[in-house]
Parts: sequence; structure tokens; C-alpha cells
Amino acid sequence: MSRPKLFSTHVLFDEPRRRLAEHFDVEYWNGNERPPRAEVLKRVAGKDALICLLTEKIDRELLDAAGPNLRIAANVAVGYDNIDVPACTERKVAATNTPGVLDETTADFTWTLLMAVARRLIEADRLARSGAWRQWNLDQLCGTDIWGKTLGIIGFGRIGRAVARRAAGFRMRVIYNSTTRAPQEIERELNAEFMERDRVLAEADFVSLHVPLRENTRGLIGPAELSKMKRTAFLINTTRGPVVQEAALVAALEQGTIAGAALDVFEREPLISDGLRRDNVVLAPHLGSASIETRTRMAMIAVENAVALFSGKQPPTILNPEVLREK
Ligand code: GLV
Repeated sequence: MSRPKLFSTHVLFDEPRRRLAEHFDVEYWNGNERPPRAEVLKRVAGKDALICLLTEKIDRELLDAAGPNLRIAANVAVGYDNIDVPACTERKVAATNTPGVLDETTADFTWTLLMAVARRLIEADRLARSGAWRQWNLDQLCGTDIWGKTLGIIGFGRIGRAVARRAAGFRMRVIYNSTTRAPQEIERELNAEFMERDRVLAEADFVSLHVPLRENTRGLIGPAELSKMKRTAFLINTTRGPVVQEAALVAALEQGTIAGAALDVFEREPLISDGLRRDNVVLAPHLGSASIETRTRMAMIAVENAVALFSGKQPPTILNPEVLREK
């Protein structure tokens, strides 16, 4: 019997490749850069399964190009704003993501960014490696304290909570806002206080964003929200760029409405607004989950979702389980 045909838009890692080879005839995109859209549309044609990254848009055009055999689009990311899930459901294509395995790694990176911007690490590194450092001085590259300050978390899901958990070692006050309030035992465990979003913005020294990108969170942080923050506060974004209105953030930084920002994600990746290239802004190219262990686990989850579906089982992290019931 012929095996199902799978297209993966990335070569993945050894372990997921070995697992895929047990079940599928696999075609990999093995270019160093992300595949052009036309190439994805061409290669997905006639395939039974697709493994994709957040850089690929899984929309009606792609589903049309794939044709009727496609049964799964397995995203190697927890965020799935790149996938039109209702369109997949209409065509009975299972859509899956990779929740759970990247929370701690992304929380680590959120703190990496927070600490880098607070203590001016990037400016310090630039000075140290330039050879221009001449002497120690009392007021040289003074940043701002982290310990004892107030951490404001917007979006208190798995990643928001993992970020909160790390604040204890810094003896910080943790305040948060979320569409639903966390259970009391979680609030107690993390020493986190729920409050209205505007109050979080007004009281936090560091505002860290952890809401997923949805229609109701697109542009969530705009001029009004930024103006509520303290002039001494920093904005940290490791979720999705469009959650922040980038032009408004640039204006706030130029006007000194806030003290700085640390950003892993941008409105139009990989483009970054020129106005963000400032000393008080730390920039990273979307690396939140980028440890070798975690990226391998993410790829494995995508693979296990595809394997499960073709073994007649429910993919463990399916987003639209109704497609299975209808089959
Ligand atoms: C990365 O951004 C992810 O959503 O997994």
C-alpha cells in the first residue's frame, strides 16, 4: 500500500525526521531561506499532509492548491494566527499547533529581554567589544533596577504564568490582566494580583504581553494604552507583533512616554520600523522558543499530530476536533 505523502516546509531536526520516515513519503523544503509562496503552493499539491511554520499562510488559496487529499496542516508553533482554522474545518483538514512545550523557554526569553533592556546589556556589549571603553565610571551605563519593581502581565495563560513564576526570585510585585481571572490557588502560588488592564498599564514598571493574536487583540496596545504607562516603564513583547501598534510605540519612544522596549516580534516581520532602532530598545528576530530542545519538541509534536491522524487517532493538539467527528 502506498504511504501518505507529506510536505514539510522545513527540514526539521533528526529525531522528527526519523519518525516521519516511518510513516510518510516525505518531501522537504530544504532551502536555507523560507520557501517562496509559489513554491509552497506547488509542492503542497496532491499531498495528504502538511507540516508548516508560522511563516506560511494556511488559507483558502493554499487549501485549493493542495487539493482534496490534504487531511492535516500541522503548525510548528503554538500561535496559529497564520492558519485560517474555519477554512480548514470547512474542507475537513485538521489544524494543529504545539502548545505546552515552549512555555518555559519563551518565559526565559521574556526575562532575557526584560533584563537586557533594564540593565542596558546591548549598549554595554557594544561598548565593551568596540575597544572604546577607557575607564570605570560611577554613572556609566546606569540602567534601572529589576528587583523589587512591579511586573505587569497582560495575558495570563501558560506563558504569562511562567513569566510570573520567575518574578519571585526578584522579589517583585506581580499584577496581571487576562480575559478570565486565574483560579485563586494559581494567584496565590504566583503571588499575582488581578486588576483592570488600565491599572496594570499604569502601575507596572515592566509590562509584558502574553495574549495570543486574535481579532480582539490586534492593535491592543496603541497610543491610549501607551500613554497610561509610567514614563519610567518598559514594554516587553514576545507574543505577536500586531498586538502592538508599532507606529504608536515608535511615537511613544520618541516622545519619552515610556522608558524603553524589548521586542521579539514585529507588526510586519521581518521588517522592523526604523524608529525602533534606538538604544533604549532591545530587538530580537522572533526567538522566544528558540532553544534546540524546545524547537525539537515543537517539531516532534507536529509530527506526532500527523502520525496520529494517519493511524486513525485524534491528533493530540488538534484545534478543530469537529473535523474528525464529521468524517
Ligand atoms: C512562536 O512564535 C510560536 O507561536 O510558537
